[in-house]
Amino acid sequence: PASEPAPAFTAEPTPAPAPDLFTWEFATDPYPAYAWLRDHAPVHRTALPSGVEAWLVTRYADARQALADARLSKNPVHHSEAAHGKGKVGIPGERSANLMTHLLNIDPPDHTRLRRLVSKAFTPRRVAAFAPRVQELTDTLIAGFAVRGEADLIHEFAFPLPIYAICDLLGVPREDQDDFRDWAGMMIRHGRGPRGGVARSVKKMRTYLAELIHRKRETLGDVPAPDEDLISGLIRASDHGEHLTENEVAAMAFILLFAGFETTVNLIGNGTYALLRNPAQRELLQKSIEAGDTELLATGVEELLRYDGPVELATWRFATCELTVGGQRIAEGDPVLVVLAAADRDPARFADPDVLDLTRRDNPHLGYGHGIHYCLGAPLARLEGQTALATLLTRLPDIRLATEPDDLRWRGGLIMRGLRSLPVEFTPV
Ligand code: HEM
Repeated sequence: PASEPAPAFTAEPTPAPAPDLFTWEFATDPYPAYAWLRDHAPVHRTALPSGVEAWLVTRYADARQALADARLSKNPVHHSEAAHGKGKVGIPGERSANLMTHLLNIDPPDHTRLRRLVSKAFTPRRVAAFAPRVQELTDTLIAGFAVRGEADLIHEFAFPLPIYAICDLLGVPREDQDDFRDWAGMMIRHGRGPRGGVARSVKKMRTYLAELIHRKRETLGDVPAPDEDLISGLIRASDHGEHLTENEVAAMAFILLFAGFETTVNLIGNGTYALLRNPAQRELLQKSIEAGDTELLATGVEELLRYDGPVELATWRFATCELTVGGQRIAEGDPVLVVLAAADRDPARFADPDVLDLTRRDNPHLGYGHGIHYCLGAPLARLEGQTALATLLTRLPDIRLATEPDDLRWRGGLIMRGLRSLPVEFTPV
């Protein structure tokens, strides 16, 4: 737009007309705009809806480089606007709740210390042990609507599954998990305004977590049980000289919820939607699952992440010094947003990038990020995604969209990409 302030540094001006970003059409299908940016303005300075200006990185090679570049800090104190006391970056409710010291907002050495402490909860072995519980949750949720012959897959399936899974992992007692479901529902439904329901929900979650941590600390035994929950494990670490503050324990619990919830909702939602729009691919998958083959399910879920993944833009990064990304000079303090959705459709890296090919093997997609902040929960997300999709297609083999694709509404948040609802119908069982 003409009113946009001139970029601080631009090697060459972006040729007009750059596509309008953050419109309704863009939220529905951002891929044509991203293709334009990759071709014409691969590192593009733009004003976000909040007014903050940021660089969007859209080519695969640049994206991968930026995600692993230690000069790009995750700590919002490096934002040039923060230096002037007007930084608008971050989730306002989260900031006021003092849950800021989490993995996605910190750099080494704090990041290394905190990530090491929590990573043992996400080893493939720990996650595999969780598989029966994820299957049980999946079966229970599907049984709740299977008899009706129709459902909204977002609200009745994709949304509750990860919430209950994360609550179990953290050690939130079953009787309290519906409260979490309500708070998370507020977070996903009502934007991220500072005074809205989100801030209230974050506050309730924080109070609850503080009490839960306190209660668990009081009752913690001397010897850890083999299946000890994550919060207890973190308390144990903090009590044994690991320099983990009580606030860091709460912030860790919060980021696991925040990072592991809406993402998984969108993997199940976007993934199911992509399968329903690509009948031949869906049939291929259904046949292979029936045959007891899990290989296509595994490559298929990775392809769904590449094709229309839950995280459209990686979280904020800030230049700690002047640097170059993709030939573009970036000033110290400038925010950089890596557009994973654009990078993962880059024809310079992926053959036929706009085609959904569940058999794709050469698929180093960036859907889980890259570098030291690579998704910690990826093994859990894979388990949930594979279990959810396989069970849906097995239990409801003739599942189909119950609305025109044009009538579906996308959330249009800045970081996440997901559907507001996904009405489906099927033969009741
Ligand atoms: C980080 C994607 C599920 C926990 C990330 C990042 C991405 C991502 C792209 C890196 C962000 C960046 O560098 O800016 C996804 C996707 C998921 C998913 C697509 C589902 C399909 C989960 C789950 C959990 C989780 C289930 C845990 C319960 C985390 C954490 C981080 C992270 C803690 C921060 C890691 C760090 O900073 O070291 N995720 N995620 N994610 N994810 Fe996930």
